[in-house]
Amino acid sequence: MKAITTRSYGSPSVLKAEEVPDPVPKGDELLIKVHAASLNQANLVLLKGKPFLARFAYGVFKPKHIITGSDISGVVKAAGKQVKHFKPGDEVYADLSNYGFGSLAEYVAVPEKALALKPTNLSHLQASAVPLASLTALQALRDAVRVQPGQRIMIYGSSGGVGTFAVQVAKAFGATVTAVCSKKHMENMKLLGADYVLDYGKIDLTKYYGSFDAILAINGYQHLATYKKLLTENGVYVMVGGSASQMFEAMLLGPIFTLGSGKKLGNFLKKHNTDDLVELTNLIEADKIRPLIDRVYPFQEFKEAFTYLDQHHAYGKVIITIQN
Ligand SMILES: NC(=O)c1ccc[n+]([C@@H]2O[C@H](COP(=O)([O-])OP(=O)(O)OC[C@H]3O[C@@H](n4cnc5c(N)ncnc54)[C@H](OP(=O)(O)O)[C@@H]3O)[C@@H](O)[C@H]2O)c1
Repeated sequence: MKAITTRSYGSPSVLKAEEVPDPVPKGDELLIKVHAASLNQANLVLLKGKPFLARFAYGVFKPKHIITGSDISGVVKAAGKQVKHFKPGDEVYADLSNYGFGSLAEYVAVPEKALALKPTNLSHLQASAVPLASLTALQALRDAVRVQPGQRIMIYGSSGGVGTFAVQVAKAFGATVTAVCSKKHMENMKLLGADYVLDYGKIDLTKYYGSFDAILAINGYQHLATYKKLLTENGVYVMVGGSASQMFEAMLLGPIFTLGSGKKLGNFLKKHNTDDLVELTNLIEADKIRPLIDRVYPFQEFKEAFTYLDQHHAYGKVIITIQN
């Protein structure tokens, strides 16, 4: 089969399209014919081996996961003997970032526990945009922020893969959402359901001190002390993404910054959970959330797709089609 491989760390130029052996599913695995795969910032971490700490998970000198890519939507072609819930012909989707990656290939062998049935109202192309980014948005809001109806929440960096889901999920939970994005995406954020939209290029944050019960920083490039000032007395700040230094800042300084106050500042890391993917499927089928797709690249333009994602200005998701 054809696959996109990373045999050394580097820029998108080290990616190659190669012929590799078809995967053979084990007893608890299914063989999936991949129709479409979406890209995530995690794929760039795996490609570049940066931040360096990530190499302890993904391979110190070279990537241990040769076939890259995490999100798939496709069709079951074969099922191992111990598989209970799926059969050939089922249309499924999954986030493979906790299951060895490998989505950018014609076929991938996936453990049953990673899969959910694809939402019936989405094409494979649309469904491939959903898993990793929407799981991140759902878990960050529900489990880390513990969002409640009527809460005022700021979503900083709201227009990318995770942010476009976060705005919709926060609205589905009944929060009042202030989305922070660049000027060019402001109108889109309103169409997506945000109650208020602020331009990160012009914003005077001092006007909003003490205004938010929660802040979800997805592409959040403000200082931790600034976020703390934006929170109400018992407010919560959760960092999802940004630079590596900000991640360590939130992890190490968050507890110190909040000593003696009711505020909480910290990080969040998505975990795979198929029940959560099913919950997202239900929200999609109930038309409460939908994937936003910025660009779709044919398989042979994989380098262009990674290069575009690397610019950090996608509106929603970037997709690579595997089957025509
Ligand atoms: N913690 C976890 O478990 C977890 C899981 C998934 C992702 N992440 C992290 O979350 C982050 C976002 O992921 P993503 O998929 O949303 O990335 P993405 O799709 O590449 O995000 C692109 C968006 O970032 C916005 N952006 C760029 N610079 C910004 C700035 N200075 N201020 C505010 N927004 C800015 C862009 O908006 P404009 O075009 O309008 O500038 C663009 O819409 C990444 O750092 C990723 O590694 C973490």
